Amino acid sequence: MKPIRKAVFPVAGLGTRFLPATKAVPKEMLTVVDRPVIQHVVDEARAAGIEHFIFVTGRGKGAIEDHFDHQFELEATLERRGKKTELGQLAAAQPAAGATSFTRQQEPLGLGHAVWCAREIVGDEPFALLLPDMLHQGTPGCLAGMMQVYADAKGGNVIAVSEVPREQVHQYGIVGVGEAQGAGFRITSMVEKPKAEDAPSNYMISGRYILQPEVFDLLAKQTAGAGGEIQLTDSMLTLAKQQPFYGYKFDGRIFDCGSKLGFLAANVGYGLASKDLAGDFRKEIEGLLKA
Ligand code: G1P
Repeated sequence: MKPIRKAVFPVAGLGTRFLPATKAVPKEMLTVVDRPVIQHVVDEARAAGIEHFIFVTGRGKGAIEDHFDHQFELEATLERRGKKTELGQLAAAQPAAGATSFTRQQEPLGLGHAVWCAREIVGDEPFALLLPDMLHQGTPGCLAGMMQVYADAKGGNVIAVSEVPREQVHQYGIVGVGEAQGAGFRITSMVEKPKAEDAPSNYMISGRYILQPEVFDLLAKQTAGAGGEIQLTDSMLTLAKQQPFYGYKFDGRIFDCGSKLGFLAANVGYGLASKDLAGDFRKEIEGLLKA
């Protein structure tokens, strides 16, 4: 069983649902409490043992690259002022030299195409994929839990799933649930954005994946699916006929930051979980609810 060393973060999306906020700022750089959404997700990957962080970006996403680099003037100023806490916070977020890679998805052809754009950097080894829109709050983190399923199964593919109300299944990829397998279960089918009546269950694919590199060959041949886009789900379905495929039920909280509602809820959820803020923040919210 090969270890999972690399993680892919598709960050090329335009963020049109967040205009005008995302006109000049990538949607992944919007903050949830005290750090950009993308850093929450990179932190989750790091906590799961990921060593190399691959970003599939697009035009106008330079701020993401800058965020994961040193900021010499800022660091020198903090140093001069003796701001140890702030320096520590920056250091904790900083990937090691050479531990990031950036490539561009040149056309918005779908998630499957974005993942395929990372093939040369991933190479011939299994990898993790984390969709930054979906924040998974909980300890251990979602990817760490999936790593356990992967280790128990001695390989294969693992995707995180979570129950959603039937009226929401058309917004997600949905899986068919098979027999239990350790902390996970066998996946029997997958369909991208089905109508409620065609959905095999109400378990949605929540945006965390451990995939074998054979998925790249399938993506290279993948024709457009739901929404006219090259869908990762379609290639995973083919892969599931050739290799073991497991679902992992994450039992923390998931925020879909692709929507304004999910993004606001994430700020409340992470605010209430913050050691420094929770007490006062709770009072603020209670005050607002009474008004
Ligand atoms: C993508 C995936 C879908 C998954 C979802 C989670 O869809 O294709 O299977 O359920 O992310 O957010 P998108 O949100 O890019 O339309």
